[in-house]
Amino acid sequence: MAVDSKSGNDMEHKSNIRIEPWGEGDLPLLKKLLGDPAMTEHLGGPESDEQLIKRQARYEKLVESGKGRMFKVVLQETGEAVGSVGYWDSSHNGEEIYEMGWSVLPGFQGRGIAGKGAALVIAAARADGKHRFLHAFPSVENPPSNALCRKLGFTLVEECEFEYPKGHFMRCNDWCLDLL
Ligand SMILES: CC(C)(COP(=O)(O)OP(=O)(O)OC[C@H]1O[C@@H](n2cnc3c(N)ncnc32)[C@H](O)[C@@H]1OP(=O)(O)O)[C@@H](O)C(=O)NCCC(=O)NCCS
Repeated sequence: MAVDSKSGNDMEHKSNIRIEPWGEGDLPLLKKLLGDPAMTEHLGGPESDEQLIKRQARYEKLVESGKGRMFKVVLQETGEAVGSVGYWDSSHNGEEIYEMGWSVLPGFQGRGIAGKGAALVIAAARADGKHRFLHAFPSVENPPSNALCRKLGFTLVEECEFEYPKGHFMRCNDWCLDLL
């Protein structure tokens, strides 16, 4: 079921959005988000078509696997899909956690879209209630993503070495949100 951002106290923002579960037809959106050099500057570079097809299959099965949820972010006004936001099971420093990620197409950045999508997804993770702590690990060189964590109420834990995607290590900030 789609969840919209209008019911919150964010009516002043320019773009109202909703989130919808990631679906079978969303590979083209995934290609625009994770197959693009500029979009993946802080994510280890663009994924190949083969990697994207595998990721699409993982996203489609994520809910039934019980290991997280991935959504697309859709503009209320036009129905256009402009980004992704989601959370998944992970472990960090020996602790089982939720990890969160977000991505918004360049033409739609700076309008509060990631912030609104992330707020809806945080509420979903809280309702799932499997883990108490939700972490995000943006590169230290990614100001918008770090600003987003701060805006959403995450606490900065520390700078750390983080592997994403597999085999690619980068300097990241560990941000944590207590869902209780
Ligand atoms: C990170 C990303 C999702 C943000 O999307 P967005 O819809 O533009 O985000 P929002 O508009 O909700 O918020 C961005 C915040 O960053 C701030 N910001 C933007 N550029 C900034 C900069 N250079 N320095 C500091 N803050 C900055 C904005 O002011 C805004 O904060 P505000 O609402 O308090 O003003 C988007 O930049 C993106 O998709 N980047 C590429 C993929 C990526 O790196 N994903 C994150 C992986 S951890």
